[in-house]
Amino acid sequence: MEKEVSIGLLGLGVVGSGVAQLIENYQDDLKHQLGCGVRVKSVLVRNLEKARSYDIDHSILTTNCDDVLNDPDINVVVEVMGGIEEARKYILQAFQAKKHVITANKDLIALYGPELEAAANENECDLFYEASVGGGIPLLRGLSDGLVSDRIQQVMGIVNGTTNYILTKMDVDGTSYEDALKEAQELGFAEADPTADVEGLDAARKMVILARLSFLTNVELDDVEVEGISNLSLTDLQYGKQLDYSMKLIGFANRTNDHHIEVSVQPTFLSNKHPLASVTDEYNAVYINGEAVGETMFYGPGAGSLPTATAVMSDVVEAIKNMRLGVNGKKFVKPRFQKELTPMDQRYSQFYLRLHVKDEVGAFALISELFHQMGISFERILQKPSNKDELAEIVVVTHETSLAKFKDSLAKLRELYVVENVESFFRVEGDAK
Ligand code: HSE
Repeated sequence: MEKEVSIGLLGLGVVGSGVAQLIENYQDDLKHQLGCGVRVKSVLVRNLEKARSYDIDHSILTTNCDDVLNDPDINVVVEVMGGIEEARKYILQAFQAKKHVITANKDLIALYGPELEAAANENECDLFYEASVGGGIPLLRGLSDGLVSDRIQQVMGIVNGTTNYILTKMDVDGTSYEDALKEAQELGFAEADPTADVEGLDAARKMVILARLSFLTNVELDDVEVEGISNLSLTDLQYGKQLDYSMKLIGFANRTNDHHIEVSVQPTFLSNKHPLASVTDEYNAVYINGEAVGETMFYGPGAGSLPTATAVMSDVVEAIKNMRLGVNGKKFVKPRFQKELTPMDQRYSQFYLRLHVKDEVGAFALISELFHQMGISFERILQKPSNKDELAEIVVVTHETSLAKFKDSLAKLRELYVVENVESFFRVEGDAK
């Protein structure tokens, strides 16, 4: 084994600078773990002149991708440039040149993970992406190695820091959605275009990766039902407080029977007794329920330079250890089950519903009769006069029912003459199962 392993970086943004910094600051620790040093030999950047927050030796910067991808001294390529097409092309080139690849790129892995894993496998290279979900939380290895002998039943994740920050500000301080988003952007959590964060797409990509690893199926982004937080109203969050719920953007990956799975992302009212309810601000957490292990929860910073770089470095270290053992490219686990998505009549949860109804005798009786006919019972009911004339605002929380039945009931409710409007409805998740 060489005295020093050379790595090449594709990109020197927030995460790339963190990786360079960790390699410099923890060189002795890395040597102790690996028995050899690690050095960054070349870094592909777009602009050589750009001012950088981290002071790096300018002689290793290059704008020519061949300096990283075709340098025979470089064994490990770290892709932290983001984006899809260029990153994919470079990673495939790296595999052809027999280099191991570490990436933090959740968008790329969600879209092209299976193709890239196959290319890595063919070339006997490692492809690791610990940093793609949950930033610095040692999550993917925890899931795929730590829980390898278990059967995962449910994964619930707060996997987007921006939306968790916004929801915390709305929930705790009563801040408006717009102001909270602005604060998140100023603090640098949001993606360049916050649409992917607030509309749930960023979380959906991460849930695809978690679902693949949890259930060994060929889940794709199109299989995920996604709803974001941009239409939430403070009124619902205030009712949530009365009901002892916290509003969270939750990614679900549930196995409903042997092979049926549901993957979705949606604003969800969580009972404050649920372990995920205590996860506030920009923090991420993933709650995993395994048949054998029971409940586990992984918590930590979901973004940020040094936290995300620690996840990247855990992959770099694994690839180098594999080099020492001569076992690179052996980690790839093929999907075992053809995906089958759980139909709506087998997806059970409680629901919160807020209605504006005519404030007249018998209005509530009609609504409760409809739910009675549908076989859905109420767990809780709140009512108060609405701000609008002659209307009452009713909030109900149902007992557990199927999504299909709940949607049917909504359609029928909208036809009742006493129902002025269905203002909102949300999935409710209660105590940890
Ligand atoms: N925009 C992402 C978030 C960054 O808010 O969680 C980490 O993927």
